Amino acid sequence: MNEKFLIEGGKKLKGEISVKGSKNTALKVLSACLLTDEPWTVSNVPQIEDIFRTIELLEKLGVKITKHESGIYELQAKNIKSNQIDFQIGQRLKSSILMAGPLLARKGVAEFPHPGGCVIGQRPRDLFLDGFKAFGAEIKIKKQGWKITAKKIKACKFIFPLVSVTATEAMILTAVLARGKTILKNAACEPEIVALINFLNFCGAKIVGAGSPTIEIEGVKYLKKGKCQIIPDRIEAGSFVILGLAAKSPIKIINLNPEHLEVLLLLLEKAGADLKIGKDHVLINSIQPLKAVDIRTHEYPGFPTDLQAPFTVLMTQAKGLSLIHETIFEGRLFYTDFLNQLGAKTIMADPHRVIVQGPTKLCGRRMISPDIRAGIALLIAALAAKGQSIIENVYQIDRGYENIEERLQGIGANIRRIKE
Ligand code: EPU
Repeated sequence: MNEKFLIEGGKKLKGEISVKGSKNTALKVLSACLLTDEPWTVSNVPQIEDIFRTIELLEKLGVKITKHESGIYELQAKNIKSNQIDFQIGQRLKSSILMAGPLLARKGVAEFPHPGGCVIGQRPRDLFLDGFKAFGAEIKIKKQGWKITAKKIKACKFIFPLVSVTATEAMILTAVLARGKTILKNAACEPEIVALINFLNFCGAKIVGAGSPTIEIEGVKYLKKGKCQIIPDRIEAGSFVILGLAAKSPIKIINLNPEHLEVLLLLLEKAGADLKIGKDHVLINSIQPLKAVDIRTHEYPGFPTDLQAPFTVLMTQAKGLSLIHETIFEGRLFYTDFLNQLGAKTIMADPHRVIVQGPTKLCGRRMISPDIRAGIALLIAALAAKGQSIIENVYQIDRGYENIEERLQGIGANIRRIKE
């Protein structure tokens, strides 16, 4: 079904909005259930399209899944009946590749598609393949993906030539049941990885170094049952803070962990935002004129690439010139064409850099959501703009944000979903 959002922008927002569980933690924890035949209970799972696809993939592999009340899943991978990750669904999700390591550990073989995900750049797979090889797996190229085989997974020392979130997670999940001690160097430090490691350790894994570039994993024979509560989504939290500022509305964002957003909050304050930062909330205390600041995306704890698009929207409302430098993905700035059509003044210097001149008045229009994060950025722009906007391809927003229109209506936004 082709669904759209119809937005009447320029309204002041008010009240509180609560942050849901982290997409990029939940996707990994759910996939990791393949490591054990014991039951796991996972709560605070966001009800979003990428989670639904992950559940479908796990069920196709034979995982028994019971969904309790909203956001609680019980999973048990006792009878894995297939070692092939469904190609149709798997290629739509980057995180599907995380099921390969556990399947290799449990079944000695895994077949997986070229994992897709957002179209935000080349998104190569070399690190995964090199990593699986380092563990002793044999790799065969198939028509649509790869087949990896290993009688026994051998612990290894693996140095990532560059920092990759999913590749770090994939190697952790491959090493948990390997024989011996694996050492990962130049690993990613994102809070989602720390949360995954903490839960695996709770279930009996032996992993040290979470949140640092060197992670050591002493292989164990099995993982036991466990309960995991998914941490708050820092990207959703940051997007809501930016929304309040862009819509010049003193809203309160609750159920978040400000420690996961330190660089964003620092830069917002540098831009002149008046924020009250609590233990688990951020309040926009008063609306102040903003001044332009530059950002440069970086692996955690740097400025997250997933907040680059929302921040760029905010800079259209700040006085002066901002340089937005997207260092991680080369296809993540094209949404700025839509911002210009709304009335923003941005110039793309090259595929990695955009200059924004603000402040500019934005006026609503028709847009198409290109990916999850640019999608929420266009939604923020539409809410900040005067007049009506239509955003098409909202599947790309539903992939990452639960029930977004109802939650935005809760703080006074005029947004409706149109089903055609
Ligand atoms: N890279 C390689 N070779 C590889 C893998 C990655 O060269 O084999 C490069 C990428 O091209 C990129 C860089 O490494 O230039 C870093 O990409 P990374 O692998 O860290 O990204 P990812 O794991 O594919 C995850 C998130 C993204 C988020 C990035 C960066 C998930 C499912 N996805 O992607 O989230 O933008 O890390 O933080 O965790 C989103 O949630 O909307 C999203 C796109």
